[in-house]
Amino acid sequence: MRTPIIAGNWKMNKTKEEAVSFLQEVKGKVPSGEKVEAVVCSPDLFLDALVQEAEGTEVKISAQNMHFEEKGAFTGETSPKALKDLGVEYVIIGHSERRDMFGETDASVNQKVHAAIDHGLTPIVCVGETLEERESNKTSDVVTRQVKEGLKDLTKEQAALVVVAYEPVWAIGTGKTPTAEEANETCGVIREALATAFSRETAEAVRIQYGGSVKPANIKEMMSQSDIDGALVGGASLEAESFLQLVEGGN
Ligand code: G3H
Repeated sequence: MRTPIIAGNWKMNKTKEEAVSFLQEVKGKVPSGEKVEAVVCSPDLFLDALVQEAEGTEVKISAQNMHFEEKGAFTGETSPKALKDLGVEYVIIGHSERRDMFGETDASVNQKVHAAIDHGLTPIVCVGETLEERESNKTSDVVTRQVKEGLKDLTKEQAALVVVAYEPVWAIGTGKTPTAEEANETCGVIREALATAFSRETAEAVRIQYGGSVKPANIKEMMSQSDIDGALVGGASLEAESFLQLVEGGN
């Protein structure tokens, strides 16, 4: 049985005051982690304050990216060791915005996934096709390649710890979504890719989120699908009330 996971990705939004006041508003209102995991993915700047604010609550804190090296001359980067030391539990790896604008590749995703696992962080690995790839019927090939390359050389046990977020690039921030059945079909392709690369048992253990224009109005339909175990939400996760509705919808 896979525990649903609803993650709000704030991207480059909020000030520290806004971030902390969001946490103060939602903590105590999210249900027990046994039913659904609620995760907030914050800019690095507020991670420390948010981890402290979330202590003793059901809310878990995630970074949005990290470097794969533990330390060194990498100006402006954040190490997995530093994230772990702060008490961060999750880290988004390979979001399409990072692949598109910051040169992230399947190879760098793979290095970061290994580093996250090695440091006890749970990677939320993003995969998904562009509109052009979808229109040329390459969706299955693209997500299969991203899963295979991104998780390359993990053991079956390590792979089982990963969360995969299926985010069609054309659905991010656009208000457009695939139907719940279409999203489920691609999540099923991802699960098959995991079974081929690792084992059936691993594939059944991995939680697969859908992301891309998820909102309180469509979360329940997405969550009713057999291969969708959660959501990675951008815009609709910015307000506390909406985030709580999403978490409720994931329950
Ligand atoms: O990480 C979240 C996704 O990019 C989805 O963003 O919910 O604003 O479409 P969105």
